[in-house]
Amino acid sequence: MGLFSQFWADLFSRVPRPGAERSVSGPDIDGTVGKESLDLSRLPRHIGVIMDGNGRWATNRGLPRTAGHREGLARVREIVTECVNLGIENLTLYAFSTENWKRPEEEVSFLMNLFRETLKTEVDEMHKQRVRVRFIGEKDKLDPDLVKLFTKLEKQTENNYGLNLNIAINYGSRREILSVVRSLVRKAIEGEVKESDIDEELFASYLYTAGQPDPELIIRTSGEERLSNFLLWQAAYAEFVFVRPLWPEFGVAEFHQAIYEYQSRNRRFGTVT
Ligand code: IPE
Ligand code: IPE
Ligand code: MG
Repeated sequence: MGLFSQFWADLFSRVPRPGAERSVSGPDIDGTVGKESLDLSRLPRHIGVIMDGNGRWATNRGLPRTAGHREGLARVREIVTECVNLGIENLTLYAFSTENWKRPEEEVSFLMNLFRETLKTEVDEMHKQRVRVRFIGEKDKLDPDLVKLFTKLEKQTENNYGLNLNIAINYGSRREILSVVRSLVRKAIEGEVKESDIDEELFASYLYTAGQPDPELIIRTSGEERLSNFLLWQAAYAEFVFVRPLWPEFGVAEFHQAIYEYQSRNRRFGTVT
């Protein structure tokens, strides 16, 4: 093998196996950054989280993938509570994408049942923590009883003025954007909106996240570095923090470290500083 091809062989032999526990790229999260290291006056007003890696967490332990989803739910509770403690205003959790229907039927129905069972019992905790829940995503393909639960929980928590928690279920950002386009076209045909009225502000007012600030920080666990159809419009100027731990390993210390990483970034918004 020539010197040049040896170079490439060495380079690729060092690329970690995707998904292998704590061996993919991303900041080395070791939980050494405590809450005291955070600048509490500069917390993001909106954090988005792509909770990825449940399946690999379970497979690494010889467990069925569904065990990873169950463990992942425990982290959801911890991260929501920590957002409440820190006073974060908005948190969007990606729980099920429009693409996740392609998974095996058993996994999809396990997840739908997990949502159902969890949501049935969560209202007291939401009130205690003053959490307002909103479900973002398309309701059409979901079981009507699940949609009823969404509506009920949204109604029951609508006067909670603590954390606004968006749970993205059957969410796909392209579809969200298309639905805005359709609504605007309809309004234009009906003469309620003129072409010249359509600006970023009007457009954003038709998104699921209308009235909320754009996420300043988007965290994805498990070492994958992509958006997978999450908040494409809203993420225009977000800071991305991709971390190695799989979602069931992502605890409060790792969350603090991701916020710390966000606070160390220089956000320029196209200007010079
Ligand atoms: C994220 O974990 C949870 C959902 C998408 C519902 P995954 O289930 O995608 O786990 P991996 O990525 O296969 O490990
Ligand atoms: C993104 O994770 C969706 C959720 C976390 C709900 P996926 O595991 O579905 O994304 P891909 O398939 O790896 O892009
Ligand atoms: Mg995944």
